[in-house]
Amino acid sequence: MRRIPAAPVVVPEDDRRGILQAIDAVLESGQLTLGSHGEAFEADFARLVGVRHAVAVNSGTSALEIALRALGAEGREVVVPTNTFFATPAAVLHAGGRVRFADVDPRTLMLDLSQLEDALTPETAGVIVVHIGGMIAPAVEAISELCRARGLWLLEDAAHAHGSTYQSQQAGSFGVAGSFSFYPTKVMTSGEGGMIVTDDRRLYEEALIYRDQGKAGFHANVHTRLGYNWRMSELHAILGASQLRRLPEFIEARRRVAQAYDKALAKSTWFEPLVEPVGARSNYYKYVVLLRQPTDRAALKRDLRERFGVGLAGEVYELPCHRQPIFEGVSDRPLSEAEGVCASHVCLPISARMTPEDAAYVAESIESAMKQLVGAAS
Ligand SMILES: Cc1ncc(COP(=O)(O)O)c(C=O)c1O
Repeated sequence: MRRIPAAPVVVPEDDRRGILQAIDAVLESGQLTLGSHGEAFEADFARLVGVRHAVAVNSGTSALEIALRALGAEGREVVVPTNTFFATPAAVLHAGGRVRFADVDPRTLMLDLSQLEDALTPETAGVIVVHIGGMIAPAVEAISELCRARGLWLLEDAAHAHGSTYQSQQAGSFGVAGSFSFYPTKVMTSGEGGMIVTDDRRLYEEALIYRDQGKAGFHANVHTRLGYNWRMSELHAILGASQLRRLPEFIEARRRVAQAYDKALAKSTWFEPLVEPVGARSNYYKYVVLLRQPTDRAALKRDLRERFGVGLAGEVYELPCHRQPIFEGVSDRPLSEAEGVCASHVCLPISARMTPEDAAYVAESIESAMKQLVGAAS
């Protein structure tokens, strides 16, 4: 039986050799953190996004919290789409802000413009958009415009969207700042890690301070902010920089798989792939498929794994954040579009290692598994 893992880590053998050599040199040098590898990774990443500054940190979660602290979220409201990973609203709380959840557009899974307008109050300081699955929705331009007009800041949680573009503009460059994650399942990884990107010199300088225990300078033991140890080690930076060099190739490979899925599922009775909007170029961190009828996802996943060797990736997301116990009572409005899409989609396996033939096999397998599931239920 073929085995198609949901989201394997891809570090080509040639790269592994280079990475190990660089790590060896770093171990010899003794400079294990905040060194030249981190700086080079930051410079390369800023170049990719097309912004002036990038700050490497130890996770996507810390990238969000640092950006929020530097933007002054403390004591203010921040609008967050409910359809996101827990880390997005949690970072608002950790930065001392208050979360105001808003609903999403089910066609793109991104914050809906009119829902966002309804969610704004005099207490709102800023807005976070999340490019779910690597897809940038066209609404990002109108949202950015709305924020400018209302004097609000826009932060992009681009944890999923390394190298994704809309009208050739890179994820992370639409708002005043962007944050990325390099967690192992992501399109590129540094093991653990994250990056803050911005054109704003003040935000950049604040991020450097927050990253290193709120210290005014590397050698000074004067703490001017409530920072933390959010530093990225040189070992992680070496892996991250190596993966960044592979990013265009990884995205191409993922897009070939996505095209094969589009083709194979075009006439499906049960599955409706999320459509890439005109002008958007997704990195296909996730290949999202909407379920046309209520489906027992756990049973579908089990059958795919056991009979076909196919692993489905995690949903985006299984439960909207306002339904998580920790956020109970936070939302005073129904957020029904997000609830609907969260309950009715799956994410097919996708990686730079998969081939279009693998994708055709997955599509056949899921059609067959669904047929059996529907047959068993009727
Ligand atoms: C949308 C989103 N934001 C933030 C994060 C947090 O990133 P990390 O796991 O690197 O802390 C993730 C991670 O999976 C994510 O998916």
